[in-house]
Amino acid sequence: MPAPRSVAVFVGSLRKESYSRKLALALGEMAAPDMQFDLVDIGGLPLYNQDDDASSPPAYEELRDAIRRADAVLFITPEYNRSVPGVLKNAIDIASRPYGQSAWNGKPGAVISVSIGAIGGFGANHHLRQSLVFLNVPAMQQPEAYIGNAGKLFDDAGAIAADATRDFLQNYLAAFARWIDANQAG
Ligand code: FNR
Repeated sequence: MPAPRSVAVFVGSLRKESYSRKLALALGEMAAPDMQFDLVDIGGLPLYNQDDDASSPPAYEELRDAIRRADAVLFITPEYNRSVPGVLKNAIDIASRPYGQSAWNGKPGAVISVSIGAIGGFGANHHLRQSLVFLNVPAMQQPEAYIGNAGKLFDDAGAIAADATRDFLQNYLAAFARWIDANQAG
């Protein structure tokens, strides 16, 4: 059997009961054995300070290495005030520097936005995509994933409750695996 594609997963919420995190965990189970999901801890990162580029703090380097090691990156994020939560933007900025050495460069990616509301985090999803264009992360265009009504998404075991949603996400994962293969760097 070929090795699974390794996916560095970035969750844009630090909340213990985060729906975004629950979705990341559920998707990780659904994605096996084709993909291996590794959730990257971004909650302990210091706020990005450009003065630190020269000294490269260990936390910065660990984040950049986690991205470089992975075949692909997946963002699963809530929407805060119609945009990307600061904790996720901070991680994006840290890994984008020093200038000319961005860890994101060329890494195939995908975006899933999550909301308790009906719009499914559309604003965050597309603000994030704006950064990914600049960072040269080829971000899967279709299918798009705006997951609304997140409060009703899971059963008691943390699995996706509705068959239709599970089918949609399984299809999304299959498309992402093809996207990774088609956009693999080098
Ligand atoms: C929100 N929430 C929210 N939801 C939305 O659909 N659009 C928005 O712009 C916002 N803005 C927003 C700002 C802040 C500061 C908070 C704390 C929350 C609600 C959000 O969808 C809800 O809290 C989710 O449960 C957050 O995702 P996690 O933590 O469950 O992954």
